[in-house]
Amino acid sequence: MSDISVSLKHSIAGANARQGGAVSSAGFVDESILERVRVGRAYVAAKYGFRNHWYPALFGAELAEGEARALTLLGENILVKRIDGAVHAIRDRCLHRGVPLSTQLECYTRNTVTCWYHGFTYRFDDGVLCAIAGTKDSAVVGRKKLHVYPVVEAKGLVFVFVGDADFTPPPLAHDVPPGFLDDELVVRGKARTVAANWRIGAENGFDSTHIFIHKHSVLIEDADLALPLGLQPQGRHAFKTSVSDDGPKGVFDNFGPGEVMPVFTATIEGEEVLHGAMHGGNRVPQDISMWLPCALRVRPWPVPELTQFEWYVPIDGEQHLYLQTLGKRCANEAEAAEFDAEFQRRWLPKALDGFNDDDVWAREATQPFYADDSGWLKEQLFEPDGNIVEWRKLASAHARGIQAPQHIDAPRRPRAHPSTENPS
Ligand code: FES
Ligand SMILES: [Fe+2]
Repeated sequence: MSDISVSLKHSIAGANARQGGAVSSAGFVDESILERVRVGRAYVAAKYGFRNHWYPALFGAELAEGEARALTLLGENILVKRIDGAVHAIRDRCLHRGVPLSTQLECYTRNTVTCWYHGFTYRFDDGVLCAIAGTKDSAVVGRKKLHVYPVVEAKGLVFVFVGDADFTPPPLAHDVPPGFLDDELVVRGKARTVAANWRIGAENGFDSTHIFIHKHSVLIEDADLALPLGLQPQGRHAFKTSVSDDGPKGVFDNFGPGEVMPVFTATIEGEEVLHGAMHGGNRVPQDISMWLPCALRVRPWPVPELTQFEWYVPIDGEQHLYLQTLGKRCANEAEAAEFDAEFQRRWLPKALDGFNDDDVWAREATQPFYADDSGWLKEQLFEPDGNIVEWRKLASAHARGIQAPQHIDAPRRPRAHPSTENPS
């Protein structure tokens, strides 16, 4: 059993003990289920994701100078704001009585946010409680601080490090698929919320036989794809793992000749009932790989010049942020502009929407079976799911921590009765 699995058993109980047993584990995977999981126990426990990792939270272009936005990542409420070009992120939870600052955002100076309730005022750059509006002196001013999340912007995405205050974040390159940060790669994409746990998203993307759902996709004709009905791995070399200490950790599906058999014809009771798209000119992808904490790379896709990178970022236990991107190597600004236009005109509607819409509804249809966590025990995997099992093992062994009940915020409640509408 891995270190993380061993420590897992006591992490929730330990946290409860430290906090006087006050932390509810409602919504987390029950110990009676975890005890019966034979492979990837830490992964099954990570319903809210893996802690101490970098996660893409939004596209940089979505946050204008001076703009603030409330996010939830791994069950933590976070407030981000762009100040002098840089994105800052603090916990969206007032130290005084725990309310979300974002319920009514009050920023009286560029670098601060003031709690709408009693005026506790925090700096965005270091989280320090620097004043209490409406109170002249208090011993707590300057002595308390909100958690500040490390932030890095890369390839047009804002990455937030969700982890412990005393954990030094590794380089972003350790938490993104290889190649994503390459200098010449230009990245475009979209993000949407999917009503399924993040692992259901990850396993849908990495699942080698799920291409069955794409058999009528609009993308097949548009991108001239040769798309089989399924991909059947041939033995143990069909996937390999990559776990170097100074790089990202993931599992590759090897689609090389002899490793995977494409299945183009479905035969049922002796009758050929379905055919995949056999005659397309584009035989893509060459490999699909899944990386900690929650990223998939499909290379190349959907045409030889492009690579798809996508993330299934935990929002809470039931939803993930599906952050989809396509990357293209561009030698100069003109090529980047051309790719940008092609992305908007073609790849956004046909690939990230058209093709991946199939994946979104498959995940949302899968979610109810796993919602109470018993699905992890009831599922009956078959041979081609070997890569998914490998991913569960790798993630359990190499993730840097598990999001636990003591890390989670209650969902925000929108302000129901704005005072302007209240005649009293
Ligand atoms: S709850 Fe925020 S200042 Fe009191
Ligand atoms: Fe898919």
